[in-house]
Amino acid sequence: MKLLVTGGAGFIGGNFIYYILNRHPEDKVVCLDALTYAGNMETLASAMGNSHFTFVKGDISERETVFDLFQKEKPDIVINFAAESHVDRSIVDPGLFLHTNILGTGVLMDACRKYGVKRYHQVSTDEVYGDLPLDQPDLFFTENTPLHTSSPYSASKASADLLVLAYHRTFGLPVSISRCSNNYGPYHFPEKLIPLMIANALNDKPLPVYGKGENVRDWLYVEDHCAAIDLIVRKGREGEIYNIGGHNERTNLQVVKAILSELNKPESLIRFVTDRPGHDRRYAIDPTKIHNQLGWKPVTRFEDGIKRTVKWYLENRPWWEHIVNGEYQNYYARMYGNR
Ligand code: NAD
Ligand code: DAU
Repeated sequence: MKLLVTGGAGFIGGNFIYYILNRHPEDKVVCLDALTYAGNMETLASAMGNSHFTFVKGDISERETVFDLFQKEKPDIVINFAAESHVDRSIVDPGLFLHTNILGTGVLMDACRKYGVKRYHQVSTDEVYGDLPLDQPDLFFTENTPLHTSSPYSASKASADLLVLAYHRTFGLPVSISRCSNNYGPYHFPEKLIPLMIANALNDKPLPVYGKGENVRDWLYVEDHCAAIDLIVRKGREGEIYNIGGHNERTNLQVVKAILSELNKPESLIRFVTDRPGHDRRYAIDPTKIHNQLGWKPVTRFEDGIKRTVKWYLENRPWWEHIVNGEYQNYYARMYGNR
């Protein structure tokens, strides 16, 4: 089996490539990644020597690049991780999100139609469902929850999902979609909550918590997400949507305090800053469908996953220090300077 993994130099795509190379050593993996600010060849360093792995630098929205690659590689399965993924950046520059996340998805599926694939899988997000109130803990997102997006990022992901379902119905493209909750683990870019807080705490810098830190996210260790996608593309039904999440809800403040405690750093580092516009209050996934149909369930508890993650950042300082010492400093000053 040959898998084309787009966005594999990013956080989840990179973890997915290692998951496949370890669990399915008979498979071949081709990674297509534009190496935007979020793409990092250091993430893929250990895969580069593997004869079953090929890296191609290219943009999913560039038709000629994508079609040439399909003609050459003829992948059996395409898994699209490539995206602009950060909500805060989508508030600053929505256009880029529409281009990559919607048009890029369309180009990939056009190539799938022309060259034929066994499966096109769209890696989507629970953010397409909008948010849930904080005072009704018995409410969860199911696959039938209406789309109700809040940010340009989530609107672009929901639009892409609609396009994927349209290609299934109109052209019979064999598609699947997964909608996962917040991931954490190794190789997570330090603009996102957990790695940002770890990096700042290790540098004794203030930890910027939006609003009162009461917003809730449903955290999933990245390897559990990879296992779910691997199952869906091999055994999941065509045309179906699968929610992925592990009932690990935490307020942002709880997460930040857990990190500080793991690192033995004082809570006085916490700074409450101006809230994110349109900030979603709570995400919470109901994973019953993927559990019942495919037997998937997460194996990593949040308490263990956060320890493992903090340990990884302590043991892999060069990986994240190269990022935070570069262009990231301008990003940080722009985003947090006057907050
Ligand atoms: P990321 O930002 O860490 O990585 C994105 C990768 O895509 C980078 O390597 C980047 O270079 C690449 N890329 C961006 N634009 C591209 C383009 N035009 N052509 C080719 N490559 C391009 O993102 P992530 O957190 O790993 O998320 C991966 C996917 O999973 C995204 O589709 C995201 O919406 C989805 N998702 C993320 C989470 C999460 O918690 N991080 C949860 C659910 C779903
Ligand atoms: O739910 C899945 C989504 O999770 C993915 O689709 C997105 O790609 C991914 O980025 C993530 O989105 P969030 O907006 O939930 O993640 P982020 O890490 O940006 O923020 C998590 C929470 O922490 C959110 O409530 C905002 C808050 N936050 C974030 C940052 C970066 C802070 O309080 N301070 C911060 O500095």
